[in-house]
Amino acid sequence: MTRHFLTDLDLSPEELDRVLSLAEHVKAQPYKVKALAGPQTAAVIFDKTSTRTRFSFASGIAHLGGQPIIVNPGEAQLGHKESIADTARVLDRQVSLIIWRTYAQAGLEEMAQHSRVPVINALSDDYHPCQLLADLLTIREHKGRLAGLKLAYLGDAANNMANSYLLAGVNAGMDVRIAGPEGYLPQEHIITAGEDRAAETGGKVTVTTDPAKALAGADVVATDTWISMGQEDEKPQRMKLFGDYQVNAQSLEVAAEDAVVLHCLPAYRGMEITAEVLDGPRSVIWDEAENRLHAQKALMAWLLVESGLADEATVAAVKAGERR
Ligand code: CP
Ligand code: NVA
Repeated sequence: MTRHFLTDLDLSPEELDRVLSLAEHVKAQPYKVKALAGPQTAAVIFDKTSTRTRFSFASGIAHLGGQPIIVNPGEAQLGHKESIADTARVLDRQVSLIIWRTYAQAGLEEMAQHSRVPVINALSDDYHPCQLLADLLTIREHKGRLAGLKLAYLGDAANNMANSYLLAGVNAGMDVRIAGPEGYLPQEHIITAGEDRAAETGGKVTVTTDPAKALAGADVVATDTWISMGQEDEKPQRMKLFGDYQVNAQSLEVAAEDAVVLHCLPAYRGMEITAEVLDGPRSVIWDEAENRLHAQKALMAWLLVESGLADEATVAAVKAGERR
């Protein structure tokens, strides 16, 4: 059965641990796993702009021995002249992976339903699960573990990053606190899905309008832009909404003394986070940005193996790398 990665919960807790271990392995030995040798190709399709996702996927595909085919917003027939289902039926005869940054999560689900090769969510309006693989890898590197750590996210708590922090965090057994203003909190179905997974992993979900409650003793403090792609028209209202949720020196006083700070980038210094914190000693954001590459290489190789689409050498390399 073809495995896809559309939301943070598409990996079981045990699978997440294996993918992160494989990511550590490919980070240490960048050119050992050749899951796309041939070179095979991978479609990397953007309906929204990107820097990190584009470069990390293109580089990662090359490292795996493959060749990326990058499609910029508006360049394909997809979305205006041709259905998602027909696009999937054409692409899966050409490429080994479909990586897609888009708006509606339903589009990714439709693509996956009709594709015989793995489909990867490279950001949708609802989730950014590849970013969370990189974030978890970064936390594991800096803290040596994930389960039991307190993770606070402040800001637009209804966006893709908030949802992914909630779900991926509890999937890793973390105590996740999500704080934002009333009306900008995660939807009920996200909270329920997070609580269900937390019951399996020992993780915890707290959703609050009180930033201090989220931050108390936090080992990890994260934020994201207040204006996500597609929300540009709402900028004037949004600028007034989130001021109390800025990550700044005062927020860090409430967090653990050795807390690390994450931001998926691009960042707006002086808005969701101060320059002092973003560029300060607790920030691990450049490691986080680098880890997109390693985490996604592991994910691509792992999905190909689990889908029965990898050669023997790749299966052996992945099996060896996913063990801690
Ligand atoms: N963090 C992230 O996904 O960055 P890009 O939008 O530049 O890809
Ligand atoms: N929430 C942001 C994340 C960018 C990587 C957005 O969707 O624009």
